[in-house]
Amino acid sequence: MIRLAILASGSGSNAENIVKYFSHSDAVEVAAIISNKADAYVLERAKYLRVPSYVMSRADMVGTDKLLNLLRELKTDWVILAGFLVLLPESIVNEYDGKILNIHPSLLPKFGGKGMYGDKVHEAVVAAHEKESGITIHTIDTNYDQGTTVFQAKIRVEPLDNAEKVAQKVHALEYKFYPKVIEDMILGRDFERVVAVEPIGKD
Ligand code: GRF
Repeated sequence: MIRLAILASGSGSNAENIVKYFSHSDAVEVAAIISNKADAYVLERAKYLRVPSYVMSRADMVGTDKLLNLLRELKTDWVILAGFLVLLPESIVNEYDGKILNIHPSLLPKFGGKGMYGDKVHEAVVAAHEKESGITIHTIDTNYDQGTTVFQAKIRVEPLDNAEKVAQKVHALEYKFYPKVIEDMILGRDFERVVAVEPIGKD
């Protein structure tokens, strides 16, 4: 079995979706959910999903080898970031070179970078009168939301859409595509790299 560790800082709806997706897989399993926030709802989800969970402070994650050691102990093959707000240290990025995936709720390089997370992304998209938004799945390096894009999916932003509406559409893309792209990447399958789910206007 190929073992995943999911790192999440918040609600964890993507983490739950990924756990459920792989629960019947005979090739991939979620070995653990790791959070930097002791009160993150993702830890409740880990309990009812019966996935082992671990909490470690941001300081321990970035300033010590504790996280790297935990990933090694868990025999982690791939690291999956799902709403994880800590910039991983170089030691981990190097050890899991090309095997750390992140999802960002915009079409990077637009609306990415430090401080651009959660609703802030969707608010910025609406404020900029963007005609489309979407998700980017990418491998990570030591900068926020950089690395190599492996997949993007787009939705149309309608003139009357508010940030909440855009968030809703983008979340739907995340649930639909993240587990599948993770699986395709891990198994080395070919897959379509850019998908327009709703028709995107020419203007
Ligand atoms: C998602 O929008 C993801 O793209 C971003 O953080 C959010 C996490 O949501 N990186 P959840 O915790 O999975 O519900």
